[in-house]
Amino acid sequence: MTTYNIAIDGPAGAGKSTIARKAAARLGFIYVDTGAMYRAMALYFLRKGIDRNNEKAIEEACEDISISIHYKEGAQRVLLNGEDVSGLIRTEEVSQMTSAISVHAPVREKLLELQRELANTRDVIMDGRDIGTCVLPNAQTKIYLTASSHVRALRRFKELEEKGLRCNLEEIEHDIIERDYRDTHRAIAPLKQAEDAVYIDSSQMTIDQVVEAILEAAGHGNPKDGR
Ligand code: DC
Repeated sequence: MTTYNIAIDGPAGAGKSTIARKAAARLGFIYVDTGAMYRAMALYFLRKGIDRNNEKAIEEACEDISISIHYKEGAQRVLLNGEDVSGLIRTEEVSQMTSAISVHAPVREKLLELQRELANTRDVIMDGRDIGTCVLPNAQTKIYLTASSHVRALRRFKELEEKGLRCNLEEIEHDIIERDYRDTHRAIAPLKQAEDAVYIDSSQMTIDQVVEAILEAAGHGNPKDGR
């Protein structure tokens, strides 16, 4: 069976998940949020008090971790050893830990197979950092979605404010820049634009405009044969 795969990569806060979710609903594809899988692993290491730089301890712990996803009312849920941890993985502490532990090969290897298997069995929009370059090099459509760090920080700031949380714009932008640096400079599968990816800078675009640009890049989801 030939499945249709759309890969979306880009830095933190570029709007990948909101946009991918909407585009997936329009196309009838499933949305796979690979960041959530890395986040679930980071939560495990945090709970166990494992040092983010201790590759040996991380490698050993990887053997005790099982990550899977399932869909509830159309939304992806991520399971860590059978426990639905979707509601626990969006904190700043988990974000920073995730970026730090995703540099380690055993962590990435653990998730690669699962991600490829999903894309081989279903039409997917998958987002992350290395989807077009490493996980799905044969994806029919690849998007590199970005925005300036200031715009990304502002979006995050507004999101937190709406939730009634106190936050500091400068600190948010600082954290975003730090995470960008780590994600683009790591040795294995760093964030970078695939050669055949369509580049979209969403700084001055609405969510709907970006969704339309992606659907257009995908030829409105008409499968091409022969990947
Ligand atoms: O997309 P996100 O913000 O949920 O991702 C959290 C971190 O996970 C990100 O800073 C780097 C890592 N990640 C990765 O290394 N590879 C992916 N495909 C997805 C996320």
